Order: sequence, then structure tokens, then C-alpha cells
Amino acid sequence: MKRSFGVKPWLYPMPTYMIGTYDPDGAVDEMMMAWGGICAENMVALNLEADHKTVANLRSRMAFTLAVPGADTLAQSDYLGIVSANKVPDKFARSGLHAVKSEYVDAPVVEEYPLTLECVVERFEEEPYGLRVLGRIVNVLCEESALDEKGRIDPARLRAFAFDQMQNGYYAMGEKLGKAWNAGAGLVKG
Ligand SMILES: Cc1cc2nc3c(=O)[nH]c(=O)nc-3n(C[C@H](O)[C@H](O)[C@H](O)COP(=O)(O)O)c2cc1C
Repeated sequence: MKRSFGVKPWLYPMPTYMIGTYDPDGAVDEMMMAWGGICAENMVALNLEADHKTVANLRSRMAFTLAVPGADTLAQSDYLGIVSANKVPDKFARSGLHAVKSEYVDAPVVEEYPLTLECVVERFEEEPYGLRVLGRIVNVLCEESALDEKGRIDPARLRAFAFDQMQNGYYAMGEKLGKAWNAGAGLVKG
């Protein structure tokens, strides 16, 4: 028996990604984003409320980082999704996290986040449903502690966490259940 809920943005899991930007004075801003992700081989899409400080920063610097926070930074990352740099200009400093400048783009790389995509803004799309920003990936950075023995990025070691919009929860990720394009291979008819 299934129950109907009408029109809701209720997919699960939603990602927890962190968008890093510099403001015109060089101050770091980070915000949490769940509504976005990979949209092409070398592109990401960010769905953003237009009044965020991050959006003003994206328009002035045309660059950003998109990072995956680990569970060890859950409180700081949630804080960065609650507070706006429009109201608290030293928001990032107050989080206790640390950032260095990206080598590839005009945006900050947070030292504590294990996986970071360094991106340039390709386009702003003002849609009836809101603002979408398309970014092009210029480089990917990953902490060595999140690599496996073969040097591959290991999701289990990233300790990423998912967001649930139905109860506003964060959920641990990382248990490997099977191999993609393989677990169902036995059901493929020859
Ligand atoms: C779990 C979570 C997910 C969020 N997802 C988004 C999102 O996808 N798009 C968005 O515009 N804001 C999202 N936010 C809200 C922003 O992170 C928040 O408004 C932030 O304070 C904006 O910071 P800024 O004004 O310094 O850029 C999310 C917040 C949380 C806690």
C-alpha cells in the first residue's frame, strides 16, 4: 500500500555539497547545497536562491569550488548552510575550518574537506523556478587519506553524508553493497 504526498521535492538521498567562493574583498564564503550535482562529463549544475552571498560572489569572481564534506565536519558544514555571509561577513572564520586558494581557479579550497572540484562559471540561467549556475570542472582534488591502495578515490573513506528533506536529517554513507554495472549482470539475457 502506497500513500500519495502531492508535489514535493522529495528525492532521497540528496547530496550535501559545499560551494566555496571569494567575495570581492577576498573573504572566503562557503555554503551548503543539496540541489545540484554533476550534469555532464565536465560540468556541474548549482540550483541557488538568488539572494545568497554565494551568488554575488559567483557573479564577481566567476569561479567556485564544490566540495564533499566528511562526517567529521557535519556541524561546521550545517552551520555554513544556516548562516549567510550577507549577515555574518566572517561566517567562514567562525566555522573554525581553514581554506587555501585553489591553484586552478579563483576560489578557496577547504583543507578539511576530502574531495573538491575546482570549477569556473560557464553560465547563469534564470529559470521560472529559480537560478541555475552551470560550472565547468577544471580539476579534482582529493585527500590522500581518502584514496585506496590503487590510488582511486574510495567513497568509504570520504565519509560523505546524505541529506533527507522529509525529516531534515543527515545520514551516513559509505557501506559498499555491490559493484555497479556488475551486480545485475547475471540477469542480463544473452
Ligand atoms: C542541508 C542544506 C541544504 C541546502 N541546499 C541549498 C541549495 O541547494 N540551494 C540553496 O540556494 N541553498 C541551500 N541551502 C541554504 C544555504 O546553504 C544557506 O542559505 C546559506 O546560508 C547561504 O549562504 P551565503 O548567503 O553565505 O551564500 C541549504 C542549506 C542546508 C542546511
